[in-house]
Amino acid sequence: MAAAWVCVFLALLYTTIAEDIKLKHKPATKPVRLFTEEELQRYDGTEDGLPIYMAIKGVVFDVTKGKEFYGKDAPYNALVGKDSTRAVAKMSLNPEDLTSDTTGLSEEELESLDSVFEGTYKTKYPIVGYTASRILNQDGTPNENFKPEDQPQFHIKDEF
Ligand code: HEM
Repeated sequence: MAAAWVCVFLALLYTTIAEDIKLKHKPATKPVRLFTEEELQRYDGTEDGLPIYMAIKGVVFDVTKGKEFYGKDAPYNALVGKDSTRAVAKMSLNPEDLTSDTTGLSEEELESLDSVFEGTYKTKYPIVGYTASRILNQDGTPNENFKPEDQPQFHIKDEF
């Protein structure tokens, strides 16, 4: 009998805590930040204490935890502080490829771009914002077709 009361008590306690958690639960509402080219340039790994940001397809990733790739004097430092879509698509570090311009890329390069974008960047690094050219039209009006990316690396437990 005592055991039954303990069970009832525990069940009640559990529901109260569950309700409490539900009330405190807030959906992830990370604001989407817009980066101009100049702003993005600040995060090129040269300034100590600042995070390192890199954009692909207009999505700005925080790649600070990949410092050994992207930090000052690291092999892929040329890719950061800017949108390097073309360089990633072509696996090239040539200065003329350090741009968001995808004109004339081959089918194979575009596929490679998507696979690195999805498989490496979106799964490994948090998204911190979007480039102005992804959020706005050329005349500065909001791009009605803009949709934020989903973030598969985001787990519900991060919200508590
Ligand atoms: C001799 C040529 C190259 C070699 C041997 C090489 C080697 C590697 C290796 C071993 C990794 C995986 C590192 C790890 O996950 O621990 C890697 C990642 C990567 N490489 Fe290269 N690479 C070369 C050239 C390039 C070039 C030219 C680019 C130009 C864009 C490039 C872009 C990348 C990127 C974006 C990653 C992913 C980094 C990350 O996980 O954040 N690589 N490379």
